Amino acid sequence: MARRENELRKIRALRAELHHHNFRYYLLDDPQISDAEYDRLLRELQALEEKHPDTVDPSSPTQQVGSSLSAEDFIASSLPQVTHRVAMLSLENAMDPGELSEWFERLQKGLPDLEEIPLSIEYKMDGVAVELVYEDGVLTQGSTRGDGVTGEEITSTLRTIETLPKKLDDPSPPALVELRGEAYIGLEEFAAMNAARSAEEGLFANPRNATAGSLRQLDPRIAAERPLGIVIYGVGATDGIALSSQQQLFETLPRWGFGETPFFRIVTTLEEIEKIYDEVLSSREKLPFEIDGLVIKVEGESLREKLGVRSRSPRWAIALKFPPEQETTRLLDIDWQVGRTGALTPVAHLEAVQVGGVTVSRATLHNPQEIVRKGVLIGDMVVIQRAGDVIPEVVKAVESMRDGSERPFRLPENCPSCDEAIWYPEGEVVPYCQNMQCPEQVRGRLRHFASRRTLDIDGLGVRLIDQLVETGIVTTPSDLFSLTAEQLASLERMGEKSAENVVAAIARTREIPLARLLHALGIRNVGEHLAAVLVGHYHDLDAIAGASAEDLTAIDEVGPIIAATIVDFFSREENRNEVEALRRAGLPFSEEEPEEVASTERPLQGLKVVITGTLPSLTRDEARALVESGGGRLVGSVSKKTDLVVAGDNAGSKLEKAQALQVEVIDEEELRRRLL
Ligand code: IVH
Repeated sequence: MARRENELRKIRALRAELHHHNFRYYLLDDPQISDAEYDRLLRELQALEEKHPDTVDPSSPTQQVGSSLSAEDFIASSLPQVTHRVAMLSLENAMDPGELSEWFERLQKGLPDLEEIPLSIEYKMDGVAVELVYEDGVLTQGSTRGDGVTGEEITSTLRTIETLPKKLDDPSPPALVELRGEAYIGLEEFAAMNAARSAEEGLFANPRNATAGSLRQLDPRIAAERPLGIVIYGVGATDGIALSSQQQLFETLPRWGFGETPFFRIVTTLEEIEKIYDEVLSSREKLPFEIDGLVIKVEGESLREKLGVRSRSPRWAIALKFPPEQETTRLLDIDWQVGRTGALTPVAHLEAVQVGGVTVSRATLHNPQEIVRKGVLIGDMVVIQRAGDVIPEVVKAVESMRDGSERPFRLPENCPSCDEAIWYPEGEVVPYCQNMQCPEQVRGRLRHFASRRTLDIDGLGVRLIDQLVETGIVTTPSDLFSLTAEQLASLERMGEKSAENVVAAIARTREIPLARLLHALGIRNVGEHLAAVLVGHYHDLDAIAGASAEDLTAIDEVGPIIAATIVDFFSREENRNEVEALRRAGLPFSEEEPEEVASTERPLQGLKVVITGTLPSLTRDEARALVESGGGRLVGSVSKKTDLVVAGDNAGSKLEKAQALQVEVIDEEELRRRLL
């Protein structure tokens, strides 16, 4: 019996493993194992399936021809399990300064010889813990923490994280280093992601859930669209390197190609910790990602060893948590708010309550369907949640607290701002006010256009925008450019000097980077990051406006939904007219291309290039940039489909494989010569 169980488990594991390798080979064109190794696994699975015919499954890799597999086949497959070499522990929590000082006293008892105990302080990132395994400097495996002992293999998803080095930038990398950290999704990216989600998909409750969902996303096309980031905070097993303090870890990471760690301090006293806690708590609103506290660790391996670990958490570290971001309060009513696109959002009008140190009296309910899905009634006690500087939201109703006086919400028939009849597009969840002149929409568009992250027009705040719209002086962003100081000075509470300053601030925007202008246009789903990606690709607003959905989806980070919204935006006459008016106003429509070579005549156009070994004068990132500037694409491993291999010192197995497959091999000098 036990044997059968073991063999069935083995069948499941082999199927998962083979699915993964099919996916690497056929979909990513980037195999991780040799054909011989693949065949060995497949034969092992075949033998086991023959022994247990009752397990035959049409989706087993033994029943499918690899090349006919679609992305969906891969997504349907489950994720393989990974056993961590060193268990991934969790952290003890301190909910207040009292619990922190108890921990501190225990440290002092555990390290009686020490007058001062060095402690490191980092952010406690609110995402999902992952482990990255680098062997000889190459990222060979990524996994989730799971239960600490076993996690899920998510290498291909982690590989889509742009800021994550696939190879350590190190001429003599350690034989093994396991890096641990938190994968997360930034707040702005999270908001854009939810805005682009359809009704069937539903909204992600918070960035952490969105991160967890994205990490399990095996379709590389979707995974690549998910704006995942990563912060490394620890080390697992190593061989050939000692990273024995946080200081050393955080100094080494940037040299390997990781981003700088977002926050790191060394202190020795409780007072210092408390001061930093207060500072971070009050400024966390401004962070572009969510943190749920600070992590305090004893600095240095030798001290940590003296203190030791308990079964689930080390004695040498503690999480100092921020106050909870969820509270319960009464939903008094539901208002409808008109956004700059005309979309109507239901907003909860709440009995004021303190959440995470801030008073909240309004929270979003996202859209009518979400109200129904959450079963929220007016008069209910509801759980609300704040997430960084994202607008607070209603999570759910507390049904057990109902007394029968609660009533369902009603859909609005007319726009609360302009009274126009509301449009309920079929098959969509969001109701719209279609009146382009609707004052609330006009105000929304102008606020976005002038805001800090777009044109950043000094002095043009919410109040002045409201005045300009109310008096009818301005109705579109381009109108701002014909404003005169006299017009502004004629408004209430507006002095001559401030009027002149605003006119000058508007004039200065003629020098802004194109990406900011594109973001300012307010195209749905085109936030700061995507605007930069589009400008980086086209360098010209007319080219972006003229691109087809197909052209746009060819760009790495642009998926079909985003492409469709961009095409739709520029197909509308009112938008085209506004864009023309902005051109006449003198705003920048193109940016100089860094590379002047026309794409058709680029020397490596369309070639799949592998770089292996250490190049004499280029880092990995520089080499990638060079290859890409020539129109080539860097891929991870050598296969029949590789066009060119650039080999340096200690090139090893990839070079051998290239020679065996008769793929052209060149050195750095030859690469430079071809790119001249
Ligand atoms: S250290 C043995 N450092 O918090 C120490 N964890 O409850 C293990 N986390 O699972 C963790 N930021 O997902 C550490 N700077 C940081 C962290 C951090 C977030 C998460 C991590 C871990 C959980 C512990």
